[in-house]
Amino acid sequence: MAKSTARWVCSECGATTGGWYGKCSQCGAWNSIEQRDERPTPTDRVVLTASGTAPVPATSTAATEEAPRVACGIGEIDRVLGGGLVPGSVVLVGGPPGIGKSTLLLQVGASLARTHGAVLYVSGEESVAQVGSRAQRLEAAHDRLLLLAETRCDRALDAARDLAVAGELAAVIIDSIQTVYTDSTEGLPGNVGQIRACAAQLVSFAKLHGVPVVLVGHVTKDGQLAGPRVLEHLVDAVLSFEGDEERALRLLRASKNRFGSTLELGVFEMTSVGLREIANPSAAFLAERPADAAGSCITASLEGSRPLLLEVQALLAQAYGPARRNCVGVDPARLAMLLAVLDRHAELHVLDHDVFVNVAGGMRLFEPAADLAVLLAVASSHLRRPLPAGLIALGEVGLAGEVRQAPRTDLRLAEAQRLGFTAAIVSDGTEVARTGASRKPGLTLHRVRTVAQALAAAF
Ligand code: TYD
Ligand code: MG
Repeated sequence: MAKSTARWVCSECGATTGGWYGKCSQCGAWNSIEQRDERPTPTDRVVLTASGTAPVPATSTAATEEAPRVACGIGEIDRVLGGGLVPGSVVLVGGPPGIGKSTLLLQVGASLARTHGAVLYVSGEESVAQVGSRAQRLEAAHDRLLLLAETRCDRALDAARDLAVAGELAAVIIDSIQTVYTDSTEGLPGNVGQIRACAAQLVSFAKLHGVPVVLVGHVTKDGQLAGPRVLEHLVDAVLSFEGDEERALRLLRASKNRFGSTLELGVFEMTSVGLREIANPSAAFLAERPADAAGSCITASLEGSRPLLLEVQALLAQAYGPARRNCVGVDPARLAMLLAVLDRHAELHVLDHDVFVNVAGGMRLFEPAADLAVLLAVASSHLRRPLPAGLIALGEVGLAGEVRQAPRTDLRLAEAQRLGFTAAIVSDGTEVARTGASRKPGLTLHRVRTVAQALAAAF
């Protein structure tokens, strides 16, 4: 190979370097620098519009918020997408192997085939017979759900183009981006150049024909998308499908969304007949809550526009040696602050204890409005006294021991009432608390200014 045509490229992020290094200086990946033959990738250029490059006045284009949507018909997915798939957009659905990505997209494909038109489901991993029999089992088989076992991106696009030109195509699903390849680029499927080139071709196709394309992407053990970062920049939305292997619960979140919020959350359960939407996740998260146990407090968190009731659990034990803090679903720095506040402002001497905090159901609680619930769960474990049944706690805790209001307390209280909660500890400053506007009979509000008052109200 002539020296001038070789270059060194990171297979993780696509950065180029002057030679081989053990660690990529751009993304920090180890052993990812590979030698490549210098050859331009014509497919790296993305065609954005069918109308060419003539400038247009901004007023003549529709606002992205008003982009028409192709609703998948599966409420939990449409919610995360911001109302459905946007024609011409490319959505990447990432998740670890076995989480249910293929199942989810087969169900999406079937739903779109029923309501919108032909859906081309390209599988690079399984045979048509395998995907077909799964579709039968999930009752997702439909005349317009077209299965294609293909790893050549160009062939898949030929099939898609024929359908699009005939005006029948509602969506294309590529399962997965790591298994397709194109002859226009060197290397094996899944390497950085291949993923980038195939994704660019698929993006061009989507924009040109105004058809939504959904890409499945595998993520590695540490949660990174396997493949170049550049993939995340090429697509319009990145959704991640997460969940616990031991649990049937699956969560769909957007980490990027050019056409909607990234705060919404979709909740599913994996069953023997595929994924089932959980329209009432609060009830699901509270289902296994032990009655009358010390160290448990319920709060209402907000995921996008949706309030979710979650249980914070805490366990304190006398530390032998340096006190340990173990957090699952809670920020450790936030916990350390709350422990210091309890020690200073509530005379609860928890600092010399090992503290374990967990959010039940594998959920995460990173909003400050959950502070009071974490603090009360810790206090409850320390005092070995359960909190009253039917109580939720809302509010941010400050360093001076003050309790501040949780945003959209009204939405959170309404969800609590819907699930039968009868009392809430909220900040005295809360609009709802002062006006009593959204107070309904059957919900007692304890308005507190300080952590000490909150403890007095709770115990
Ligand atoms: P799959 O969709 O193949 O995961 P991915 O594409 O993310 O790798 O789903 C894999 C798991 O889901 C598999 O271990 C079995 C389970 N599963 C069910 O429990 N019920 C079902 O109806 C289906 C289709 C799969
Ligand atoms: Mg799969």
